[in-house]
Formats: sequence, C-alpha cells, structure tokens
Amino acid sequence: MADAISDETNRRDFLYVATAGVAGVGVAFAAWPVIDQMNPSADVRALATIEVDISQIAVGQSLTVKWQGKPVFIRRRTQEEIEVAEAVPLSDLPDPQADADRTENPEWLVMLGICTHLGCVPLGEQGDFNGWFCPCHGSHYDTSGRIRKGPAPKNLEIPPYEFLSDSLILIG
Ligand code: FES
Repeated sequence: MADAISDETNRRDFLYVATAGVAGVGVAFAAWPVIDQMNPSADVRALATIEVDISQIAVGQSLTVKWQGKPVFIRRRTQEEIEVAEAVPLSDLPDPQADADRTENPEWLVMLGICTHLGCVPLGEQGDFNGWFCPCHGSHYDTSGRIRKGPAPKNLEIPPYEFLSDSLILIG
C-alpha cells in the first residue's frame, strides 16, 4: 500500500514536473521571437555601415556602392569639377548649399544616388551642368550634386560617412 501511494505520488510529481517543464519551454519559445525582433538582425547590423576601398578610383571616375539598399555615388572629382562647383553663387541654387558643406574632402563627393523628385537613379556626367541628370522627368544636378534645373526640389542627399584612411571610407 505504501509502495502504491509512493508510486502514485511519484507519478503525479513526474507529471507535474513534466508539465511545468513543457510550459517553461513553451514560454521560452514564445518569448524569444518577440525579444529577438527588438534587436536588429545580424545582416541588418552588417548593412548599417559599410567600408569602401576607394584606392582604385582614379580622378574623374565614380563608383556606385549599395548601402542600406540605396545606391551611393562616390566620385573622385577633377580639379575643374571642384572649381566649377565652388564658384557657383548660392543665389543661383534652388536648394542653397555651399560645395564645402557637402564634402569632407573636396576631391571626394559621396552622396545618395536617388533623385529627390521621385526617387530615380540619376546618370553621372550628364545634364546641363555636367553633373548628374535624372531622365525620369529631367532634373539636372551640378558637379556637387546640387539641383540646378528640373522638378527635383532638393540636392542629392549626403549620407553620414567618414574617412578611415586615405583609401577607406566608412558609410553609415
Ligand atoms: S525622379 Fe528624377 S526627375 Fe523625377
């Protein structure tokens, strides 16, 4: 009889423990996706910033890289492009911004390749100002990426970036 009670107790204890254990695991599985969603995933974290080797870009050449799903134009400007951009009076600009305020180093222009009208990707070394031209509706940007003509309201946006060295840029 004592053994029977003991067996019964043990079975109940076991069932209780097993149930509690399953419930605990269930909570853990249910809670993890919620907690996990609060943190950016590894690939999102990796894309938040990118390092770009600019050592192979010659004067007068551009490189387009992808950052957070957006095209970023990196142009190593010629001396003439810099001088033309610096000489433009701010009063000529629909979105007045000095060239010096758009670059860390005048030789390098880093900006989002997204037209500020409706988001097309402008074409380089084209348009009336030899900068970028957006063929979607005819927006012309100058050699500083500033809007000069057409429906786009703003200059091409400058993303956060810094030079890690003479040959490496960190974007983001
Ligand atoms: S999207 Fe560039 S001009 Fe309209």
